[in-house]
Amino acid sequence: MTSNRRISILAAAAALVAGPALADDVVTVGLIVPMTGQQATTGKQEQAGANLYIQLHGDTVAGKKIVLEVKDDAGAPDVTKRLAQDLIANDNAKALMGFGLTPLALAVAPVATEAKVPEIVTAAATAMITEKSPYIVRTSFTLPQAAAPMAQWCLKNNIHKVVTLVADYGPGNDAEKWFGDVFEKGGGQIVEKIRTPLKAPDFAPFLQRVKDDAPEALFVFLPSGQGAAFMKEFAERGLDKSGVRLIATGDVTDDDQLADMGDAALGVVTTHHYSAAHDSPENKAFVAAFEKANAGMRPNFMAVAAYDGMALLYQALDKTKGATDGDALIAAMKGMSWTSPRGPVSIDPDTRDIVQNIYVRKVEKVDGALYNVEFDAIPAVKDPYKAAKQ
Ligand code: DHB
Repeated sequence: MTSNRRISILAAAAALVAGPALADDVVTVGLIVPMTGQQATTGKQEQAGANLYIQLHGDTVAGKKIVLEVKDDAGAPDVTKRLAQDLIANDNAKALMGFGLTPLALAVAPVATEAKVPEIVTAAATAMITEKSPYIVRTSFTLPQAAAPMAQWCLKNNIHKVVTLVADYGPGNDAEKWFGDVFEKGGGQIVEKIRTPLKAPDFAPFLQRVKDDAPEALFVFLPSGQGAAFMKEFAERGLDKSGVRLIATGDVTDDDQLADMGDAALGVVTTHHYSAAHDSPENKAFVAAFEKANAGMRPNFMAVAAYDGMALLYQALDKTKGATDGDALIAAMKGMSWTSPRGPVSIDPDTRDIVQNIYVRKVEKVDGALYNVEFDAIPAVKDPYKAAKQ
């Protein structure tokens, strides 16, 4: 053997032991969320939720070391898309997670399809998102899933005339349609449909219209982070004392902001999939560990979805015995079921959307702090938008 040949064999052996072997043992997960800008609370909650899962379950699964790379897209879809491409090309990311707003999740869909990398949507909630790539799986929720049960609750509770107010983009349009259609089918009347801008909304003129309409109730969807500003304006206009009942999806009485909303929020009824006050041993342990790890911050529905996004990925890797091929991971995720802090959940194998309980909750004071206290539950709700098409 020539000495050159001997050296190259030695180099190859060394590379086998060190370089590629190590690289193969790492699974990089890209968490792309807004950490700055209007949706920064979503990023903060998602990062804390994903990190807590790793902290509580260890950073290895099926012989692979999980490395979470958190990237701030500041809520700009072109940035989200570029970060997704970079994570796959440069960091060899095997899964992407996060997406704080619908347009951000949509921007990544073609990237996930092209690269065959799972896109785990842990925030955005417009129903059609999962239809945009066979590599999208969702652990958050859909607006039809949350809004349709609110209409049912109104019909059962003698509310007949409602004004709807929603943020004017995908999830708001879903909420308006699914609340409105179910409500009108059951004999209710939508008096007016109001849409507010997604960016920096000033609610005052819209709430004046609500006052003039004088409906029995106002149904609201706003994305996480806008609830406190809305509630402040609602109270300042005297609407909390005007006889107009406030009802909403749980995005408005978001646990991230609820404690600071003040007494105007008391009695607001919402439908949603997660409350920090959910009464289960899994949730009590989750909330305690989350608050301990995050200087007392209360987890909201974004945190739990990111926690469950990691839970889904860990279980899928377990099932594939550590194989990171996108098709194998997606196949493993389909039909997966587990107990989340929010209750029992599963991934619908046909739609890749989460199936979960939707709870009816009322804002109450518990030990002096405001919480969404659950008083009814509709079990195992599938996304109604896709169920209607099947
Ligand atoms: C979306 C964002 C939110 O903050 C939320 O609470 C619900 C939906 C979205 O953009 O899809």
